[in-house]
Amino acid sequence: AGPVWIDTDMGFDDLAAILMVAASRPVAGLSLIAGNVVLPQVERNALAAAAEFGWDFPIHLGAAEPLSGRLETADYVLGSDGMPGRGRKLPLAEGNALPDATGAITRFIEGGGRDILAIGPLTNLARLAQSRPDLLTLPDLRLVWMGGSAGPGNHTAAAEFNAAVDPEAIAVLIEAGVRISMVGLDCCRQVQVTLDNVAPLRNQLSERAQLLADLLEGYVRIADDGRRPMALYDPVAAAAMVDPESVTFAHARLNAELNGTLTRGMTVIEWRARKAEPNALIATTADAPRIRALMQAALIHAAEG
Ligand code: BDR
Ligand code: CA
Repeated sequence: AGPVWIDTDMGFDDLAAILMVAASRPVAGLSLIAGNVVLPQVERNALAAAAEFGWDFPIHLGAAEPLSGRLETADYVLGSDGMPGRGRKLPLAEGNALPDATGAITRFIEGGGRDILAIGPLTNLARLAQSRPDLLTLPDLRLVWMGGSAGPGNHTAAAEFNAAVDPEAIAVLIEAGVRISMVGLDCCRQVQVTLDNVAPLRNQLSERAQLLADLLEGYVRIADDGRRPMALYDPVAAAAMVDPESVTFAHARLNAELNGTLTRGMTVIEWRARKAEPNALIATTADAPRIRALMQAALIHAAEG
């Protein structure tokens, strides 16, 4: 299988998703987008992860703000650095990311790349659709996005976080005719992790395994300090990309609510093809044990590497 481009706002679940892709496919590069945390912190997290895990692919800076309005972050969930730790933290790294995310994704697609995993707000990809409408609409292009929901939201009652940050970006992509494979909140919530799932990493002796165990434990403890299971988000979209049997999709019409006072950022799914022509693939079911196993194997692989 070919290389994968990953567009990310680099919280902990993004890191797990990237490691899952890297375990089985070449990663062509990362483009960074503000979301979980502000762009300079997204950049620090990406460079720190690159140094820790020996990533040799390019990392490009994307948009610091959504297409319209002010950035809202998720630091109330993932903490001020996006990495909810229990002790060890990713060591800080020197340097800067490369510029021009949209130019980099353009070159990836022009060079034959067809698989894009988006695990943050869709601003960078919307900008690409605006500058080069011919690229993301190529018939064999696959854009798998963790975002939106076919049920309730998390950032607001109606809207999932990545959708809520930049609803206009979703609308731009839909308007441009880009077929999104949406892995929404309702699907991701079928895949949950508990403190038990930290044990296989904890049992590995290396310092890097302990770092990943601390990060995963911090993530699990977001849900009532680990007393409730925590859903995996970006890793479910990563699984859909690298292990298509782990997530099932159905054709439907995807719309983004831009105006509602209570519902801005809601993804409204019309399942009835007789009412509206399907324009997207919407994830409906996820194989939880399979995806948890995939993530654990990828984290252990990264700890050994
Ligand atoms: C999404 O929002 C972010 O906090 C996570 O990284 C994930 O991409 C879940 O709503
Ligand atoms: Ca994310």
